[in-house]
Amino acid sequence: LKNAALTKVAQAEDEQQLQEIRVAYLGKKGPITEVLRGMGQLSPEERPKIGALANEVRDQIRIAMEEKGSILKERAVAKQLASETIDVTLPGRPVSQGTAHPLSAVIDELETIFLGLGFSIEEGPEIESDYYNFEAMNLPKDHPARDMQDSFYFTDELLLRTQTSPVQARVMEKHAGRGPVKIICPGKVFRRDDDDATHSHQFMQMEGLYVDHHVSMSDLKGVLSLFVKQFFGAERSIRLRPSFFPFTEPSVEVDVSCGICSGQGCRVCKQSGWIEVLGAGMVHPRVLEMSGFDPNVYSGFAFGMGIERLAMLKYDIDDIRHFYTNDVRFLRQFKGV
Ligand code: PHE
Repeated sequence: LKNAALTKVAQAEDEQQLQEIRVAYLGKKGPITEVLRGMGQLSPEERPKIGALANEVRDQIRIAMEEKGSILKERAVAKQLASETIDVTLPGRPVSQGTAHPLSAVIDELETIFLGLGFSIEEGPEIESDYYNFEAMNLPKDHPARDMQDSFYFTDELLLRTQTSPVQARVMEKHAGRGPVKIICPGKVFRRDDDDATHSHQFMQMEGLYVDHHVSMSDLKGVLSLFVKQFFGAERSIRLRPSFFPFTEPSVEVDVSCGICSGQGCRVCKQSGWIEVLGAGMVHPRVLEMSGFDPNVYSGFAFGMGIERLAMLKYDIDDIRHFYTNDVRFLRQFKGV
């Protein structure tokens, strides 16, 4: 009996089998219990001998089972560890990385350049009053120059701003007639245009304004020249052409000399060697006055540029609609820009 039990214990392959053996040999209905139960029928001389023998057999089986049990437990743990190990040498799943939108990248770059020149960043509302968008910019209600910017009106007094220039008036008012004011204002603007490769009913501008004692046209030229060299490349230069804006006098269009364009040759400056990039001028005395600055004490310059246009020139992009259609094949090209 003992040997049979010990052999079975040795052969047991898992804890369940071991448990079955325990029930079979040591359980209430097992042979050893039976022997011990039948002791009463034995003679007094036999009793201690048989009793001792039965106990010994029971203890030996128990010990064997305990030993086997701990071996099986160890084996089970080892097996689980082996099946759950992580192979750290396997290649990982690639995580696709997003890119900054080209407009965001250009705005970041513009802000960095102008912060370096001592400008601070201001923002204004996209839904603007007729007063700030036009009147405070020296465009009274029936002024024909309003036609330059077809507008989306909500009411007679409220519209989607057509330019970032109203931020000039808002910030000057806050300064209550005391300079200096040296700000840039990037943001969305809206005009009633039919969308095509070069027009979008929504686009972005960045306004610049510097008002202080003795600000002159040469300050304007210096700042814009530095900006163009940092943004487009040190070999670029600017030229100013006379122009008209109601809020500046004199007014200029600013052209940049053509460099070597990236990509498949130079699409933009075919003949003249110059491309227009922005509008600017000396702040009109009426504009200073309406926003609380004394034009006999203060002077200033202002400029406004289209951010898409700058991005299109810099990255040789041929259609403004690319910025707003979110084709990932377009956007992915700006990795690391
Ligand atoms: N607001 C003008 C436009 O949208 C640009 C501009 C800004 C011109 C500031 C001169 C000075 O056309």
